[in-house]
This record gives sequence, structure tokens and C-alpha cells, in this order.
Amino acid sequence: MIIKDFSSFSKFLFELNPSSIFILSDTNTLQYCVPILIANIEILKEAQILEIEPGEESKSIEIASGLWESLIEQNADRNTLLLNVGGGVVCDLGGFVAATYMRGISFINIPTSLLALVDASTGGKTGINLNQYKNSIGVFQEAKACFIYPEFLSTLPQNELRCGFAEIVKHYLIDSEVSFDKLMFLNPFEIEDWSEIINENIAIKKRFVQDDLKEKGKRATLNLGHTVAHALEAFYIERGRPVLHGDAVAAGIIIESHLASFCNQKLLSEICFNQIFSYITEIFPRIDFEISDIDELIRLMKHDKKNNQSNITFSLLTKPGSVLLNYEDKELEIIKSLTYYLENV
Ligand SMILES: NC(=O)c1ccc[n+]([C@@H]2O[C@H](COP(=O)([O-])OP(=O)(O)OC[C@H]3O[C@@H](n4cnc5c(N)ncnc54)[C@H](O)[C@@H]3O)[C@@H](O)[C@H]2O)c1
Repeated sequence: MIIKDFSSFSKFLFELNPSSIFILSDTNTLQYCVPILIANIEILKEAQILEIEPGEESKSIEIASGLWESLIEQNADRNTLLLNVGGGVVCDLGGFVAATYMRGISFINIPTSLLALVDASTGGKTGINLNQYKNSIGVFQEAKACFIYPEFLSTLPQNELRCGFAEIVKHYLIDSEVSFDKLMFLNPFEIEDWSEIINENIAIKKRFVQDDLKEKGKRATLNLGHTVAHALEAFYIERGRPVLHGDAVAAGIIIESHLASFCNQKLLSEICFNQIFSYITEIFPRIDFEISDIDELIRLMKHDKKNNQSNITFSLLTKPGSVLLNYEDKELEIIKSLTYYLENV
């Protein structure tokens, strides 16, 4: 729910009446967002603060374990409430910690990055990374509620705004021709009021998650671009210089759209591919892997938890608003699309 002030959130907390409240934030959201909440919501003045370092590295078993310990040491019980105030990392990690602590306590997401506002804070996926394997440990558990205060975006760095925008690109591509046309005129760096875009994107995500929380069917549509993106992210985590999730997703959408357009079945029109290519390359930076890295990227794709056995599966766009699920690719075709990216972006 988008909120313009904090009265509905205050009321919700009051009615929930938890035995205690913990606020999980990273160093940045502790500085920029938590003080605004505490200043406006009386009941939060007594909340305990849990702080983690910003970044993907915090989505680890060590950090999760530290948080479980803090909760137990500070007497959190089964009626304790955890407020996740942050980006996708805080929401994923906090959701996982809450869902597993004492077999599950309630949590509320208060997303503060664009990516978390339009994506990570809804849909019930929580989890952490195992070494370089992204989100490989986790549970499906929906937040008790999600309160969205778009004003938090005012302190978000530009590169993080761009990253969140990658999921918006994905949503508008999978939604409809109308959304696709709208997208082609959006420049993330010129948007002043995000409310309408946030509302539309949450509605799109909910449409695909509804009735398929555990991704047995249509939810897989949301994986567009993500088979390649997760491999790129894992590849750079292994090398100790992580890429931003959204930048990996943007590259993934280009590479997978190329695959859809130039694979044997020619699933996506070349005109549409060219529009997507030009639009994304105007906004997002090139991911600099090399031809010699392609084998390793393929190996990582085979490890993707979305796959059946060792085939690589994709959710491929066939036209705006239409996605073919579980497309199993021949390695040769994905190699061509990875190479195309390297030679043309
Ligand atoms: N659960 C899901 O459905 C889902 C969906 C998409 C992505 N994700 C996960 O989300 C994560 C990425 O999320 P992210 O891009 O939000 O990263 P993030 O949580 O690391 O946030 C990005 C950076 O922005 C800072 N930040 C956040 N809000 C801020 C604000 N208002 N002002 C100033 N700085 C702020 C953070 O401190 C961090 O440095 C990944 O781990 C990804 O796997 C989960």
C-alpha cells in the first residue's frame, strides 16, 4: 500500500499489537529512512534496531545467524514483529530470518529502494545466497503487510534507481502492448512522481504471483532476463566484484530477447528486439564479460534452480505481453546470443 503519511501504518501497528518490534535496516537506510519512521510513528520509539552492512554480501548464513542470535538475546518471542526497512537485501534477508525464527514470526516490509518498492517487497520470496549461488536458500513467506513511502527514493543513489528500473522494464514488457509503448517513452532519470508507476508495477507483479506463490506456472513469467542475469551475478560474485542486480537483469533481457528473436523458432520479431535493444542500451551500462567467460556462464546457468536437470530453461518474450515459459535452449544458441551482446553493446 502506498502511503503519503504514516497514520495508516501507525494504526496498523497499533492494532497488530506485537509483543515487541525490531527494525532491520542497513547502514544507509538506518541513516536516511529509519529516523523518519521513528519521528512519525510513536510505537517505533521503543523498537530495537538491528543493523547490517549494505550490499549483497549481507544475504549470507553468517549474517542471518547473527540476527537470530540478536533476536534471541533480546527476548524476541513468537509475537515479535520484524520491520524490514531497506532495499531488496534487507527485505529478502529479514523475511528469511523472520520466517524461520521460532518457526516464523510476522514481518512487514518497508521498501526503500526502487527495486524493493516495485519487486522485492511483494510476492513472498525470502532468502539468502549460498556462496555465489544467488537466493539458493530460502522460503516462501508473505509479509504481513507492505507499506510504501515513495519519498524514501529521494536519497537513493542514481545507479540504484537505474537498477530498480530494470525490473520495471521487465514488468512492462511482460504486461501488454500498451505498457510496452508507455515504457518506450520513460526515462528513469526524469521521473518526478513515481506513484503511478509503482502502483502499476506492483499490480503487474501481483497478477503473476497470484495463485502461483511457489512458481509452478505463470509466476515464471517474472523470470524474463533472469536466467542470464543470475549467471552474470554469480560470475562476478565469484570474482569478488559483484555487478548490480538491475544491470545484470538489463543485460539478461537483451541476451534472452536476442535468443527469442534469433533462435530456430524466431519467437520474437526482429523489430521488437531492436526496440528493446536500443531502449536498454541507452539507459544501462554494458556488462564487461569476455568471450572466454562464456563457458563458465553456461555452467552457472545449468546450476540455476529454475532448471530441470541440467537443461537451461528460459522465460522468453514472444511479443509484449506474451512470454513462453520453460523454453529449453540448446547451448549453441545461447552462446550466439551472449556473443552478440559482447559484439554489439
Ligand atoms: N524477493 C524478491 O522477489 C526479489 C525480487 C527482486 C530482487 N530481489 C533481491 O533484491 C536484492 C537487490 O535489491 P536492491 O537493489 O534494493 O539492493 P540493496 O538492498 O542492496 O539496496 C541497494 C543500495 O541502496 C541503498 N539504499 C536503499 N534504499 C535507500 C534509500 N532510500 N536511500 C539511500 N540509500 C538506500 C542500500 O543501502 C544499498 O546500498 C537482490 O539480493 C535480489 O536478489 C528479491
